[in-house]
Amino acid sequence: MSLLLQIDEIEKEISTSLPENPDDLENFRLKFLSRNGLLSQLFEELKTVSKEEKPIVGKKLNNLKKLAEEKYNSTKDKIEGSFSVRPNVDYTLPGRFIDIGHEHIISQTLEEFVRIFREIGFKVTEGPEAEDEFHNFDALNTPEHHPARDMQDTFYLDVKDKSGKKYLLRTHTSPVQIRTMLSEKPPLRIVCPGKVFRNEAVTPKNYFMFHQVEGLCVDRDVTMSDLQSVLTYFLKKFYGRDTKTRFIPSYFPFTEPSAQVDVSCFLCKGKGCKTCKNSGWLEIGGCGMVDPAVFEAVGYDPEIYTGYAFGMGIERIAMMKYGINDIRILYNNDVRFLNQF
Ligand code: DAH
Repeated sequence: MSLLLQIDEIEKEISTSLPENPDDLENFRLKFLSRNGLLSQLFEELKTVSKEEKPIVGKKLNNLKKLAEEKYNSTKDKIEGSFSVRPNVDYTLPGRFIDIGHEHIISQTLEEFVRIFREIGFKVTEGPEAEDEFHNFDALNTPEHHPARDMQDTFYLDVKDKSGKKYLLRTHTSPVQIRTMLSEKPPLRIVCPGKVFRNEAVTPKNYFMFHQVEGLCVDRDVTMSDLQSVLTYFLKKFYGRDTKTRFIPSYFPFTEPSAQVDVSCFLCKGKGCKTCKNSGWLEIGGCGMVDPAVFEAVGYDPEIYTGYAFGMGIERIAMMKYGINDIRILYNNDVRFLNQF
């Protein structure tokens, strides 16, 4: 058969072939377009055609190749398109909801607390939860047999430090004050958030673990009125502009003078209700001027520097803000509760 006739035959075959699935299509490619396929053979034969005929036959052959390639590509698109649509999927069904969770209410409260202090120049520092007696008590002017040690029931660990005393779970975040003062020079303005532990019976108001934020400012000429204005500023930012604060004389071994910090009840606005036990006020922490004995323990000169410190319980603050009346519910991990915040 002459080459031209063969070309006509194959052209007919290509035009009428209808590959319907990936297998058909692959057979089409093997038959016509592969290295050993029919078209390659025809191109091979082209070499034997006379000089005069070559341009005509060559052109026909090229057109044939184009036809085969176009057929292959367009059919491939069609088949792939239809096969990528999975027939058994209902695209009108709603998507699956993926619950990615969110921050715990205590973390949110801690963040907000720290953010407000950051804005006014306080730096965040942290310390270990397993502490030694020196940082947790001694350096905070609470030596052994000091009655104030009984204010906080302590969990001791079965591990001893270099001096032979047992490590403990810190009962407050105040030891971070000591650690920071031992490693940095004044002026200092820090807030120290973290977990604390107390060996106390669990009740709606008390848990064996909770969170505190400690604050400390040390510089020349720091006064009690700086302390009052900073805490008043913070509490107005946190609870709202019309919040009032009051400072009641109190006692802590590491501050002198010391005060208890109260805010006007956010629920009744000071008129008196169940939450504030009709007093109009809620206690939210302690504060005071750093005792010179604490400065001596860390090697700061109390003749040159003064400072104020404060400590607040985050659970208490969050419970008051959101009207939660049982601390234990914060740690049950019940999503019906947690999702509300
Ligand atoms: N550490 C105290 C406690 O846990 C709270 C506290 C009170 C911290 C007065 C202070 C402070 O820094 O000045 O009960």
